[in-house]
Amino acid sequence: MPLVNTKEMFKKAYDGGYAVGAFNVNNMEIVQAITEAAGELHSPVILQVSKGARAYANSKFLIHMVKAALENYPDLPIALHLDHGDSFELCKACIDDGFTSVMIDYSGHPYEENVEVTRKVCEYAHDTSKHPYVTVEAELGTLAGVEDEVSHEHSTYTDPDQVQDFVTRTGVDSLAIAIGTSHGAYKFTKEQCTRNKDGILVPPPLRIDILEEIEKRIPGFPIVLHGSSSVPQEYVAIINQHGGKMPDAVGIPEEQLREAARHAVCKINIDSDLRLGMTAAIRLHFDEHPDHFDPRQYLGDGRKYVKAVVEHKITEVLGSKDKA
Ligand code: G3H
Ligand code: 13P
Ligand code: ZN
Repeated sequence: MPLVNTKEMFKKAYDGGYAVGAFNVNNMEIVQAITEAAGELHSPVILQVSKGARAYANSKFLIHMVKAALENYPDLPIALHLDHGDSFELCKACIDDGFTSVMIDYSGHPYEENVEVTRKVCEYAHDTSKHPYVTVEAELGTLAGVEDEVSHEHSTYTDPDQVQDFVTRTGVDSLAIAIGTSHGAYKFTKEQCTRNKDGILVPPPLRIDILEEIEKRIPGFPIVLHGSSSVPQEYVAIINQHGGKMPDAVGIPEEQLREAARHAVCKINIDSDLRLGMTAAIRLHFDEHPDHFDPRQYLGDGRKYVKAVVEHKITEVLGSKDKA
């Protein structure tokens, strides 16, 4: 089958009480690791490309790598999605290039501007006279955290009173909300957390009550969670034991993401955990083999670790195994 949009994927995920993983892709090893894991576990998957990824790898390379992955798993539902599109023009360029889904992120702008630009992207994306129906994700509320291209210092939870008006006026296909997740590997400060008996930071819980309130206002509508990496402490430990320095990295506990997936959350975004897996593998590799200088050796290890991260997400967090 060709690349798919997220319409059918999200309907099945909503009805089945699971979520589809949306993993950020930046290079060949990451594309291969994600699609091998999803293919072997028969899980639908979303491969997403950020503005930073486009700048690093060149969008055309990423598109062709995703299409090559699809050739290896022709029966797997794979969506190619623009992550955090910041303008109509960028969304249009991706749609014209064959992306099957786009995000327009105007959440940092005033509400009426968010409505207007999202509506305009939906109008173009849904016009099937020019291309197949492309699904659109937008965002209400802002996440805390810092990434290369995505930066909001403070979070504002999504206001449930706005969601029905927003989805009706824009025609958007899914909605990203802010309920306490955050981008990056340092999602909370030490001061925002408590510590468990082993000294590990425990973050404040997600606001499932806000999610439930949103579900009541827009029943059946697919919800998206950004900033949903769990920052596995075993990878942080490998990094720190092999020359890295990532003190107090902290993520979202997996059981809370699992609970969100049983609710209306149909898409869970994961990037930082892939980066941690890749970095842990490479640091470990160089420590154990200081004489190696063939990228296939250490990037090969990176690919194995990233695949293990994705397998774990599909089976233990998303619940999307055997849903393809
Ligand atoms: O949410 C942002 C993603 O993790 C992408 O990050 O802008 O560094 O590619 P990036
Ligand atoms: P993480 O930084 O938690 O992996 O979030 C990724 C994300 O939201 C991509 O849009
Ligand atoms: Zn994001």
